[in-house]
Amino acid sequence: MRIRLFVGSLVAAAVCTGGVFAVNNSAPKASPKTVKEVMKIAHDKEAGILKKILSGGASDAEKKQLLDLYIDMAEGEPKKGDKAEWKIAASAAALSAGKVVLGREGAIEELTKTSDCKACHSKFK
Ligand code: HEC
Repeated sequence: MRIRLFVGSLVAAAVCTGGVFAVNNSAPKASPKTVKEVMKIAHDKEAGILKKILSGGASDAEKKQLLDLYIDMAEGEPKKGDKAEWKIAASAAALSAGKVVLGREGAIEELTKTSDCKACHSKFK
């Protein structure tokens, strides 16, 4: 009984220490991008990753990067417009970016719709 308790606390200590080390070793999380920054990185006319993804020429890393950016976008603030509506519109774009990462059927078509520049700008920019 005593031994089992002792072993148990050793395991607990190891798990805790491991946890602490894991936290210490992981890179600090970069601060989330603003909507403006997301627009520049994701939607640049020449170098934007959205364009590359929609045309089928993006790597898996770039697809993940768009998802990461769109999550920041959805959690960010629009310049104008209704906050709740923004959350829905921007989250829809993030959801389709996630489907692209997973290679879900119809994901590119869905992303084309949810990333519509004009539709979103007329309400939130
Ligand atoms: C989900 C909504 C949404 C979609 C989709 C969207 N935008 Fe935006 N965009 C915004 C908002 C909101 C702003 C205003 C950001 C601010 O000034 O804070 C903005 C701003 C911009 C800006 C100005 C950035 C600056 O430096 O001031 C550019 C350029 C831009 N968008 C390009 C695009 C292009 C190109 C597309 C389509 C491929 C697109 N956006 C799709 C919401 C969106």
